[in-house]
Amino acid sequence: MKALTGLLLLVFGHGVSSVLHSLHYFYTASSGLTTFPEFVAVGMVDGVQMLHYDSVSKRAVAKQDWMERYAREDRDYLEGQTGGLQGQQQTFKANIGIAKQRFNQTGGAHMFQWMYGCEWDDDDDSTDGYEQFGYDGEDFLSLDLEHLTWVAPVRQAFATKRKWDEDKAILQYKKNYHTKECVDWLKKYLAYGKSTLQRTDRPRVSLLQRSPSSPVVCHATGFYPDRVVVFWRRDGQELHEQVDPGEVLPNHNGTFQVSVDLNLKAVPQEDWGRYECVVQLKGIEDISTPLDPALIRTNGGKSGHTIPIIIGLLVLLLAAAAAVVGVLLYKKRNASDKRHKPDGSDTSSENTEGQNPAPEAQPLTKV
Ligand SMILES: *[C@@H]1O[C@H](CO)[C@@H](O)[C@H](O)[C@H]1NC(C)=O
Ligand SMILES: *[C@@H]1O[C@H](CO)[C@@H](O)[C@H](O)[C@H]1NC(C)=O
Repeated sequence: MKALTGLLLLVFGHGVSSVLHSLHYFYTASSGLTTFPEFVAVGMVDGVQMLHYDSVSKRAVAKQDWMERYAREDRDYLEGQTGGLQGQQQTFKANIGIAKQRFNQTGGAHMFQWMYGCEWDDDDDSTDGYEQFGYDGEDFLSLDLEHLTWVAPVRQAFATKRKWDEDKAILQYKKNYHTKECVDWLKKYLAYGKSTLQRTDRPRVSLLQRSPSSPVVCHATGFYPDRVVVFWRRDGQELHEQVDPGEVLPNHNGTFQVSVDLNLKAVPQEDWGRYECVVQLKGIEDISTPLDPALIRTNGGKSGHTIPIIIGLLVLLLAAAAAVVGVLLYKKRNASDKRHKPDGSDTSSENTEGQNPAPEAQPLTKV
Protein backbone atom coordinates (compact mmCIF):
# COMPACT_ATOMS: atom_id res chain seq x y z
CA MET A 1 0.00 0.00 0.00
CA LYS A 2 2.83 2.29 0.78
CA ALA A 3 4.28 1.67 -2.63
CA LEU A 4 0.94 2.46 -4.16
CA THR A 5 0.60 5.77 -2.44
CA GLY A 6 4.11 6.62 -3.46
CA LEU A 7 3.17 5.97 -7.02
CA LEU A 8 0.13 8.15 -6.80
CA LEU A 9 2.27 10.86 -5.40
CA LEU A 10 4.19 10.81 -8.61
CA VAL A 11 1.04 11.57 -10.49
CA PHE A 12 -0.39 14.09 -8.12
CA GLY A 13 2.69 15.61 -6.65
CA HIS A 14 4.94 18.02 -8.51
CA GLY A 15 7.20 20.20 -6.26
CA VAL A 16 5.97 23.32 -4.64
CA SER A 17 7.25 25.78 -7.15
CA SER A 18 6.15 23.85 -10.17
CA VAL A 19 3.46 25.16 -12.44
CA LEU A 20 3.17 22.02 -14.47
CA HIS A 21 -0.32 21.25 -15.71
CA SER A 22 -1.27 17.85 -16.98
CA LEU A 23 -3.91 15.95 -18.86
CA HIS A 24 -3.81 12.18 -18.40
CA TYR A 25 -6.00 9.41 -19.70
CA PHE A 26 -5.98 5.94 -18.21
CA TYR A 27 -7.76 3.03 -19.85
CA THR A 28 -7.94 -0.29 -18.10
CA ALA A 29 -9.42 -3.45 -19.51
CA SER A 30 -9.54 -6.50 -17.32
CA SER A 31 -10.62 -10.09 -17.55
CA GLY A 32 -11.23 -12.62 -14.85
CA LEU A 33 -12.00 -10.01 -12.17
CA THR A 34 -15.52 -10.10 -10.83
CA THR A 35 -15.28 -6.97 -8.71
CA PHE A 36 -13.93 -4.68 -11.38
CA PRO A 37 -15.68 -3.56 -14.58
CA GLU A 38 -14.32 -5.08 -17.76
CA PHE A 39 -13.31 -1.67 -19.03
CA VAL A 40 -12.76 1.64 -17.26
CA ALA A 41 -11.51 4.89 -18.75
CA VAL A 42 -10.60 7.90 -16.67
CA GLY A 43 -9.51 11.38 -17.69
CA MET A 44 -7.64 13.64 -15.29
CA VAL A 45 -6.64 17.28 -15.40
CA ASP A 46 -3.99 18.27 -12.87
CA GLY A 47 -4.67 15.03 -11.04
CA VAL A 48 -8.40 15.72 -10.78
CA GLN A 49 -10.68 13.26 -12.45
CA MET A 50 -12.96 15.00 -14.94
CA LEU A 51 -14.18 12.16 -17.10
CA HIS A 52 -15.29 8.63 -16.36
CA TYR A 53 -16.50 5.77 -18.51
CA ASP A 54 -17.01 2.15 -17.63
CA SER A 55 -18.39 -0.94 -19.28
CA VAL A 56 -21.25 -1.14 -16.78
CA SER A 57 -22.77 2.27 -17.51
CA LYS A 58 -21.41 2.44 -21.08
CA ARG A 59 -21.60 6.23 -20.80
CA ALA A 60 -18.97 8.92 -20.59
CA VAL A 61 -19.73 11.11 -17.58
CA ALA A 62 -18.33 14.53 -16.67
CA LYS A 63 -16.98 14.44 -13.12
CA GLN A 64 -16.56 18.04 -11.97
CA ASP A 65 -18.89 21.05 -11.99
CA TRP A 66 -16.69 22.84 -14.47
CA MET A 67 -16.56 19.77 -16.65
CA GLU A 68 -20.34 19.50 -16.58
CA ARG A 69 -20.48 23.12 -17.63
CA TYR A 70 -18.08 22.40 -20.45
CA ALA A 71 -20.19 19.44 -21.56
CA ARG A 72 -23.31 21.59 -21.59
CA GLU A 73 -21.66 24.14 -23.83
CA ASP A 74 -19.99 21.66 -26.16
CA ARG A 75 -23.14 19.67 -26.79
CA ASP A 76 -21.49 16.87 -28.77
CA TYR A 77 -18.72 16.31 -26.29
CA LEU A 78 -20.11 13.56 -24.08
CA GLU A 79 -21.82 11.82 -26.99
CA GLY A 80 -18.53 11.80 -28.83
CA GLN A 81 -16.66 10.51 -25.83
CA THR A 82 -19.28 7.84 -25.23
CA GLY A 83 -19.13 6.62 -28.80
CA GLY A 84 -15.38 6.57 -28.86
CA LEU A 85 -15.07 4.78 -25.56
CA GLN A 86 -17.67 2.18 -26.45
CA GLY A 87 -15.45 1.41 -29.40
CA GLN A 88 -12.38 1.33 -27.19
CA GLN A 89 -14.09 -1.06 -24.86
CA GLN A 90 -14.47 -3.60 -27.65
CA THR A 91 -10.92 -3.10 -28.81
CA PHE A 92 -9.44 -3.47 -25.38
CA LYS A 93 -11.42 -6.59 -24.71
CA ALA A 94 -9.85 -8.02 -27.82
CA ASN A 95 -6.43 -6.77 -26.74
CA ILE A 96 -6.56 -8.83 -23.61
CA GLY A 97 -7.28 -11.87 -25.71
CA ILE A 98 -4.30 -11.14 -27.91
CA ALA A 99 -2.00 -10.49 -25.01
CA LYS A 100 -3.06 -13.72 -23.33
CA GLN A 101 -2.27 -15.61 -26.49
CA ARG A 102 1.11 -14.00 -26.82
CA PHE A 103 1.95 -14.86 -23.25
CA ASN A 104 0.52 -18.36 -23.60
CA GLN A 105 -2.06 -17.75 -20.91
CA THR A 106 -5.38 -19.46 -20.84
CA GLY A 107 -7.11 -18.20 -17.73
CA GLY A 108 -6.67 -16.11 -14.62
CA ALA A 109 -7.03 -12.38 -14.03
CA HIS A 110 -5.40 -10.03 -16.52
CA MET A 111 -5.26 -6.34 -17.25
CA PHE A 112 -4.44 -4.41 -20.33
CA GLN A 113 -3.80 -0.69 -20.02
CA TRP A 114 -3.29 2.34 -22.05
CA MET A 115 -2.17 5.65 -20.67
CA TYR A 116 -1.37 8.79 -22.51
CA GLY A 117 -1.42 12.50 -22.03
CA CYS A 118 0.54 15.67 -22.03
CA GLU A 119 2.00 18.24 -19.70
CA TRP A 120 2.24 21.95 -20.08
CA ASP A 121 4.42 24.29 -18.07
CA ASP A 122 2.66 27.63 -17.99
CA ASP A 123 5.88 29.33 -16.97
CA ASP A 124 8.04 28.59 -19.98
CA ASP A 125 5.28 27.18 -22.21
CA SER A 126 7.15 23.92 -22.71
CA THR A 127 5.13 20.78 -23.32
CA ASP A 128 5.65 17.07 -23.19
CA GLY A 129 3.57 14.08 -24.19
CA TYR A 130 3.67 10.37 -23.67
CA GLU A 131 1.80 7.26 -24.56
CA GLN A 132 2.21 3.73 -23.37
CA PHE A 133 0.57 0.39 -22.98
CA GLY A 134 0.89 -2.12 -20.21
CA TYR A 135 -0.10 -5.70 -19.66
CA ASP A 136 -0.50 -7.18 -16.19
CA GLY A 137 1.33 -4.24 -14.67
CA GLU A 138 4.36 -4.50 -16.92
CA ASP A 139 5.36 -2.18 -19.71
CA PHE A 140 4.22 -3.51 -23.02
CA LEU A 141 4.71 -0.80 -25.61
CA SER A 142 5.42 2.90 -25.57
CA LEU A 143 5.80 5.71 -27.99
CA ASP A 144 9.17 7.38 -28.36
CA LEU A 145 7.94 10.78 -29.40
CA GLU A 146 11.36 12.13 -30.17
CA HIS A 147 12.29 9.41 -32.63
CA LEU A 148 8.70 8.69 -33.56
CA THR A 149 8.95 4.96 -33.09
CA TRP A 150 7.31 2.42 -30.86
CA VAL A 151 9.42 0.74 -28.23
CA ALA A 152 8.70 -2.81 -27.17
CA PRO A 153 10.46 -3.98 -24.00
CA VAL A 154 9.02 -7.48 -24.21
CA ARG A 155 9.15 -9.81 -27.15
CA GLN A 156 5.42 -10.40 -26.94
CA ALA A 157 5.04 -6.84 -28.20
CA PHE A 158 7.50 -7.04 -31.08
CA ALA A 159 4.85 -7.90 -33.62
CA THR A 160 2.79 -4.88 -32.70
CA LYS A 161 5.80 -2.64 -32.76
CA ARG A 162 6.76 -3.78 -36.23
CA LYS A 163 3.29 -3.20 -37.52
CA TRP A 164 2.86 0.21 -35.93
CA ASP A 165 6.26 1.50 -36.91
CA GLU A 166 5.25 1.11 -40.51
CA ASP A 167 2.25 3.32 -40.17
CA LYS A 168 3.89 6.70 -40.70
CA ALA A 169 0.59 8.54 -40.96
CA ILE A 170 -0.40 7.45 -37.51
CA LEU A 171 2.98 8.27 -36.06
CA GLN A 172 2.66 11.72 -37.52
CA TYR A 173 -0.79 12.01 -36.05
CA LYS A 174 0.60 10.99 -32.67
CA LYS A 175 3.21 13.63 -32.84
CA ASN A 176 0.64 16.30 -33.57
CA TYR A 177 -1.64 14.96 -30.91
CA HIS A 178 0.94 14.97 -28.16
CA THR A 179 2.57 18.27 -28.97
CA LYS A 180 -0.47 20.27 -29.94
CA GLU A 181 -3.94 18.77 -29.76
CA CYS A 182 -3.59 17.38 -26.26
CA VAL A 183 -2.11 20.61 -24.98
CA ASP A 184 -4.91 22.64 -26.56
CA TRP A 185 -7.46 20.48 -24.78
CA LEU A 186 -5.56 20.79 -21.54
CA LYS A 187 -5.65 24.57 -21.77
CA LYS A 188 -9.33 24.50 -22.57
CA TYR A 189 -10.09 22.35 -19.54
CA LEU A 190 -7.92 24.52 -17.35
CA ALA A 191 -9.83 27.58 -18.43
CA TYR A 192 -13.14 25.97 -17.50
CA GLY A 193 -11.80 24.58 -14.26
CA LYS A 194 -9.90 27.71 -13.33
CA SER A 195 -11.83 28.49 -10.19
CA THR A 196 -11.24 25.03 -8.77
CA LEU A 197 -8.06 23.82 -10.45
CA GLN A 198 -6.23 27.04 -9.77
CA ARG A 199 -7.67 27.66 -6.33
CA THR A 200 -5.80 27.51 -3.04
CA ASP A 201 -7.33 25.67 -0.06
CA ARG A 202 -5.59 26.35 3.19
CA PRO A 203 -4.45 23.30 5.17
CA ARG A 204 -5.60 22.54 8.68
CA VAL A 205 -2.56 21.51 10.68
CA SER A 206 -2.64 19.23 13.74
CA LEU A 207 -0.04 17.60 15.90
CA LEU A 208 -0.91 14.04 16.79
CA GLN A 209 0.72 11.39 18.91
CA ARG A 210 -0.37 7.81 19.29
CA SER A 211 1.35 7.12 22.60
CA PRO A 212 3.94 9.00 24.70
CA SER A 213 6.76 7.04 23.05
CA SER A 214 5.45 7.43 19.48
CA PRO A 215 6.67 10.03 17.05
CA VAL A 216 4.75 13.30 16.93
CA VAL A 217 2.94 13.58 13.65
CA CYS A 218 2.47 16.89 11.91
CA HIS A 219 -0.68 16.32 9.91
CA ALA A 220 -1.83 18.81 7.31
CA THR A 221 -5.13 18.20 5.57
CA GLY A 222 -7.71 19.86 3.38
CA PHE A 223 -5.21 21.65 1.16
CA TYR A 224 -5.15 22.27 -2.56
CA PRO A 225 -3.22 22.07 -4.77
CA ASP A 226 -1.08 19.13 -3.73
CA ARG A 227 2.21 20.96 -4.08
CA VAL A 228 2.86 21.33 -0.42
CA VAL A 229 6.05 21.34 1.60
CA VAL A 230 5.84 20.15 5.22
CA PHE A 231 8.89 19.91 7.43
CA TRP A 232 10.08 20.15 11.03
CA ARG A 233 12.43 22.84 12.28
CA ARG A 234 14.61 23.00 15.36
CA ASP A 235 15.88 26.43 16.39
CA GLY A 236 14.75 27.66 13.00
CA GLN A 237 16.74 25.04 11.09
CA GLU A 238 15.06 22.47 8.87
CA LEU A 239 15.53 18.94 10.20
CA HIS A 240 16.45 16.05 7.96
CA GLU A 241 17.16 13.49 10.64
CA GLN A 242 14.57 12.35 13.21
CA VAL A 243 11.99 13.02 10.52
CA ASP A 244 9.92 10.64 8.47
CA PRO A 245 8.15 12.48 5.67
CA GLY A 246 4.94 10.91 4.45
CA GLU A 247 3.38 10.96 1.04
CA VAL A 248 0.73 13.37 -0.10
CA LEU A 249 -2.58 11.50 -0.22
CA PRO A 250 -5.88 12.54 -1.76
CA ASN A 251 -8.87 13.22 0.49
CA HIS A 252 -12.37 12.27 -0.59
CA ASN A 253 -13.30 15.84 -1.43
CA GLY A 254 -10.58 16.81 -3.85
CA THR A 255 -8.20 18.16 -1.25
CA PHE A 256 -5.01 16.50 -0.06
CA GLN A 257 -3.34 15.50 3.17
CA VAL A 258 0.14 14.66 4.33
CA SER A 259 1.84 13.63 7.56
CA VAL A 260 5.41 14.16 8.62
CA ASP A 261 6.62 12.27 11.70
CA LEU A 262 9.10 13.67 14.16
CA ASN A 263 10.94 11.14 16.30
CA LEU A 264 11.48 12.55 19.80
CA LYS A 265 12.96 9.48 21.47
CA ALA A 266 16.23 11.17 22.40
CA VAL A 267 14.75 14.58 23.07
CA PRO A 268 14.00 15.65 26.67
CA GLN A 269 10.66 17.38 26.97
CA GLU A 270 12.23 20.68 28.06
CA ASP A 271 13.75 20.88 24.56
CA TRP A 272 10.44 20.47 22.78
CA GLY A 273 9.94 24.20 22.59
CA ARG A 274 12.76 24.41 20.08
CA TYR A 275 10.76 22.44 17.53
CA GLU A 276 8.05 23.55 15.17
CA CYS A 277 6.26 22.10 12.17
CA VAL A 278 6.13 24.29 9.08
CA VAL A 279 3.64 23.95 6.24
CA GLN A 280 4.23 25.84 3.02
CA LEU A 281 1.71 26.13 0.22
CA LYS A 282 2.01 28.42 -2.73
CA GLY A 283 -0.20 31.47 -2.32
CA ILE A 284 -0.47 31.44 1.48
CA GLU A 285 1.79 32.42 4.33
CA ASP A 286 3.76 29.63 5.97
CA ILE A 287 1.87 27.94 8.78
CA SER A 288 4.09 27.29 11.77
CA THR A 289 2.96 25.07 14.65
CA PRO A 290 5.15 24.89 17.76
CA LEU A 291 5.73 21.52 19.40
CA ASP A 292 3.71 22.38 22.46
CA PRO A 293 2.48 19.34 24.44
CA ALA A 294 -0.77 21.22 24.99
CA LEU A 295 -1.39 21.30 21.24
CA ILE A 296 -0.79 17.60 20.67
CA ARG A 297 -3.86 15.49 20.20
CA THR A 298 -3.54 12.04 21.63
CA ASN A 299 -6.01 9.30 21.65
CA GLY A 300 -4.84 6.48 23.86
CA GLY A 301 -4.34 3.39 21.74
CA LYS A 302 -6.16 4.83 18.76
CA SER A 303 -4.14 7.54 17.23
CA GLY A 304 -5.86 10.48 15.69
CA HIS A 305 -3.88 10.31 12.52
CA THR A 306 -4.64 6.74 11.71
CA ILE A 307 -8.14 7.63 10.70
CA PRO A 308 -7.32 10.23 8.09
CA ILE A 309 -4.66 7.94 6.73
CA ILE A 310 -7.10 5.08 6.46
CA ILE A 311 -9.62 7.33 4.79
CA GLY A 312 -6.91 8.52 2.48
CA LEU A 313 -6.04 4.99 1.56
CA LEU A 314 -9.65 4.06 0.98
CA VAL A 315 -10.16 7.08 -1.20
CA LEU A 316 -7.04 6.09 -2.97
CA LEU A 317 -8.33 2.63 -3.66
CA LEU A 318 -11.73 3.75 -4.81
CA ALA A 319 -10.87 6.80 -6.79
CA ALA A 320 -7.72 5.49 -8.30
CA ALA A 321 -8.52 1.87 -8.89
CA ALA A 322 -8.74 2.38 -12.58
CA ALA A 323 -5.54 4.33 -12.69
CA VAL A 324 -3.48 2.06 -10.53
CA VAL A 325 -1.66 0.12 -13.14
CA GLY A 326 -1.36 3.15 -15.28
CA VAL A 327 0.29 4.83 -12.38
CA LEU A 328 2.70 1.96 -12.09
CA LEU A 329 3.62 2.53 -15.64
CA TYR A 330 3.94 6.21 -15.03
CA LYS A 331 6.31 5.54 -12.21
CA LYS A 332 8.40 3.31 -14.34
CA ARG A 333 8.49 5.95 -16.98
CA ASN A 334 9.77 8.44 -14.46
CA ALA A 335 12.10 6.05 -12.79
CA SER A 336 13.99 5.21 -15.89
CA ASP A 337 15.36 7.50 -18.49
CA LYS A 338 12.33 9.68 -18.72
CA ARG A 339 11.56 10.27 -22.35
CA HIS A 340 13.40 7.34 -23.80
CA LYS A 341 11.77 4.62 -21.86
CA PRO A 342 11.11 1.66 -24.05
CA ASP A 343 7.62 0.45 -23.93
CA GLY A 344 5.42 -2.14 -25.38
CA SER A 345 3.53 -2.20 -28.56
CA ASP A 346 -0.13 -2.20 -28.41
CA THR A 347 -1.70 -5.54 -28.77
CA SER A 348 -4.84 -3.76 -29.63
CA SER A 349 -3.92 -3.28 -33.25
CA GLU A 350 -3.21 -6.91 -33.40
CA ASN A 351 -6.67 -8.17 -32.91
CA THR A 352 -8.18 -6.65 -35.97
CA GLU A 353 -5.76 -6.36 -38.79
CA GLY A 354 -5.78 -2.91 -40.27
CA GLN A 355 -7.53 -1.39 -37.29
CA ASN A 356 -5.42 0.76 -35.04
CA PRO A 357 -7.40 1.33 -31.92
CA ALA A 358 -4.89 3.59 -30.28
CA PRO A 359 -4.85 6.25 -32.95
CA GLU A 360 -8.58 5.98 -33.42
CA ALA A 361 -9.16 6.33 -29.77
CA GLN A 362 -7.51 9.66 -29.46
CA PRO A 363 -9.61 11.44 -32.00
CA LEU A 364 -12.62 9.85 -30.40
CA THR A 365 -11.59 10.82 -26.91
CA LYS A 366 -11.31 14.36 -28.19
CA VAL A 367 -8.63 15.23 -25.72
C1 LIG B 1 4.16 -20.21 -26.05
O1 LIG B 1 4.05 -21.48 -26.61
C2 LIG B 1 4.74 -21.62 -27.84
C3 LIG B 1 4.41 -22.99 -28.42
O2 LIG B 1 4.27 -23.95 -27.41
C4 LIG B 1 6.23 -21.42 -27.60
O3 LIG B 1 6.93 -21.52 -28.83
C5 LIG B 1 6.43 -20.03 -27.01
O4 LIG B 1 7.80 -19.83 -26.71
C6 LIG B 1 5.60 -19.87 -25.76
N1 LIG B 1 5.70 -18.50 -25.32
C7 LIG B 1 5.85 -18.16 -24.06
C8 LIG B 1 5.87 -16.72 -23.75
O5 LIG B 1 5.97 -18.98 -23.18
C1 LIG C 1 -11.97 18.03 2.84
O1 LIG C 1 -11.69 16.93 3.64
C2 LIG C 1 -10.69 17.17 4.62
C3 LIG C 1 -10.39 15.85 5.30
O2 LIG C 1 -11.54 15.16 5.63
C4 LIG C 1 -11.18 18.24 5.60
O3 LIG C 1 -10.20 18.50 6.55
C5 LIG C 1 -11.46 19.50 4.79
O4 LIG C 1 -12.01 20.48 5.64
C6 LIG C 1 -12.44 19.23 3.68
N1 LIG C 1 -12.53 20.41 2.85
C7 LIG C 1 -13.66 20.79 2.27
C8 LIG C 1 -13.57 22.01 1.42
O5 LIG C 1 -14.71 20.18 2.40
